[in-house]
Amino acid sequence: MRILSGIQPSGKLHLGNYFGMMRPALELQEEGEAYLFIANYHALTTIHDRADLWAHTQDVALDFLACGLDPERTAFYRQSDVPEVTELTWLLSVLAPMGLLERCHSYKDKTARGLPASHGLFSYPVLMAADILAVQANVVPVGRDQKQHVEVTRDLALKFNHQFGEIFTIPEPAIRDSVAVVSGVDGQKMSKSYNNTIDIFGPAKETRKRIMRIVTDSKALEEPKDPATCNVFVLLKLLATPDEQAAWADRYRAGGMGYGDAKKRLAELFEDHFAPLRERRDALLRDPGYVEDVLQQGAQRARAVARATLDQARAATGLVGP
Ligand code: ADP
Ligand code: TRP
Repeated sequence: MRILSGIQPSGKLHLGNYFGMMRPALELQEEGEAYLFIANYHALTTIHDRADLWAHTQDVALDFLACGLDPERTAFYRQSDVPEVTELTWLLSVLAPMGLLERCHSYKDKTARGLPASHGLFSYPVLMAADILAVQANVVPVGRDQKQHVEVTRDLALKFNHQFGEIFTIPEPAIRDSVAVVSGVDGQKMSKSYNNTIDIFGPAKETRKRIMRIVTDSKALEEPKDPATCNVFVLLKLLATPDEQAAWADRYRAGGMGYGDAKKRLAELFEDHFAPLRERRDALLRDPGYVEDVLQQGAQRARAVARATLDQARAATGLVGP
């Protein structure tokens, strides 16, 4: 089984990204031949500052390696180091119906938020299809928001195969229903667009402050409280053992517990979980040559597969003779 996923380098990674996307993707490393890449061509649809794009790209590389990406198992690369992807984008573009792309939510959402309506932003799903089809992935682990893009990928692959011959594997999305949307410090979906994140590698003091500021209701100390609707408990559940979760749920319901106690414990759990990863990240930061080597070797592995796909696709379309 071939597994592929990508993440845009568009800012600091937070607990939502970690539990929603990183952990599931890293767990899948065990189950097949995995490809994971930093989608910097995609990020270029919204980031037009050279220093920012590069810094975010380096950050994502360090974050994934610190969190357990195993470069022996997984080909880990920058999207732009596999130029076959952009070549394939064109071959798919000529088959991509305007109506199909016009129906995509992400373009409509982004332009509604005020992003300039560029051609790149519009054709973003075709580039994503090329990422997936270039390595002939069977399974694509993504968040629910990306499901439509995998469906576009399937449509384009079927269309190409129908027109030119069976070149592409038809991929399936893998969406974890068990990972609920992680809420931010204000109770909305945690997202860098809402400035409500708890970053996984933020400065320790600032992180603690943000945890202590998580919004709760104003029930008095002695009152019983409902764990299911509490933003602190939602995060506690992600980090505590099942026994500890149950013990906290009992304390909530019994009354006599202040939200401050739960927040303090959450800050400790966060620190216990991320402190060793932060140490690993600091060590990697002192060894930029290693990180660059990992990305270069990952790109070589991805390119070998992508080149073979492209050779077949070029021949199938008549760009090269029989
Ligand atoms: P953001 O909303 O901060 O811009 P992205 O849209 O870049 O995050 O998301 C990157 C990945 O992380 C996607 O696969 C997405 O599904 C996942 N993700 C982002 N925020 C959350 C969240 N609050 N809960 C669960 N998963 C999330
Ligand atoms: N569009 C994805 C996101 O914003 C990132 C991405 C780009 C991707 N290409 C991909 C994810 C291919 C899976 C497969 O989160």
